[in-house]
Amino acid sequence: GRPLRVALLGCGVVGSEVARLMTRDAEELAQRVGAPLELVGIAVRRLGRERDLDVPADLFTTDAAGLVSRGDIDVVIEVIGGIEPARELILSALDNGASVVTANKALLAEDGATLFEAAEKAERDLYFEAAVAGAIPIVRPLRESLAGDSVERVLGIVNGTTNFILDAMTTNGTGFSEALDEAQRLGYAEADPTADIEGFDAAAKAAILSGLAFHTRMTLGDVHREGITEVSAADIRSASEMGCVVKLLAICEKRDTPDGPAVSARVHPAMIPLSHPLASVRGAYNAVFVESESAGQLMFYGPGAGGAPTASAVLGDVVSVARNRRNDVFGPGESTHAQLEVLDIGRA
Ligand code: HSE
Repeated sequence: GRPLRVALLGCGVVGSEVARLMTRDAEELAQRVGAPLELVGIAVRRLGRERDLDVPADLFTTDAAGLVSRGDIDVVIEVIGGIEPARELILSALDNGASVVTANKALLAEDGATLFEAAEKAERDLYFEAAVAGAIPIVRPLRESLAGDSVERVLGIVNGTTNFILDAMTTNGTGFSEALDEAQRLGYAEADPTADIEGFDAAAKAAILSGLAFHTRMTLGDVHREGITEVSAADIRSASEMGCVVKLLAICEKRDTPDGPAVSARVHPAMIPLSHPLASVRGAYNAVFVESESAGQLMFYGPGAGGAPTASAVLGDVVSVARNRRNDVFGPGESTHAQLEVLDIGRA
């Protein structure tokens, strides 16, 4: 097939790994897609930074808007993060006929509806496996594999930084800030760790998971949120005396109310009995535990952050949307047929 043109927006921890793997594995990827993937531009904030990538220097540009509106791009990969300019760029990419792969949980949780509507209108793909729990396949399972089942509850450890911190506090008795420094050094924490430790990052992922699991729309504002900054060494000790570990949990649930089915999503530190599979999730790993009517209990486990694991999820999406482009089809869109009432049940 003709080469598919790919534009990369952002070349940080994740973006540079995506560019590196696309270059190194170009042949294998071409075989899997059935057409070569041609990296035609990399939008960065500043030129001249040493990126140590085996790509032509003239691919780099600071004009992201110009890149996505060229009109000849097949796939735009957005790994800038944050709300703007990511939103404008994604909308422009779709409007200009590209399919989009994004890792942007904050944007999807704040305004996924606008993006999904734009993708639908443009008849293009919007894939976002990397937005929740890094390398772990969880978006596809909820969007596709479990689309014939009825999900009742999703419990997730979806922030590697906080799991790393709580785990270090539990095993080594490390202090909070020391563990946070280490998490940042390892590249798990967001640039501003507030998003991690105050639970915003996990809450964004909870909103995305709820939307997928319950075929509804949920935004960050619908998610009750508490972070881990108040968790003390004494809390961790008393949990341990009760045979539990403390985890920052995202809990997405369907509930029957007198007015019909409703959903709730909340993020807060929770005590997990050591016998529960989620208790075994150590370090910066993530896990998503799904309870559904027919399938029963499923657990998805793996690295939830970091350049290479996140790049793995991004590239999987790139292969999928590129295959779709080749066949002139698009994959699953948004399935928000159920506009369920959102309950705030706090830290129940
Ligand atoms: N800071 C996030 C985490 C990165 O710690 O899980 C992945 O979203």
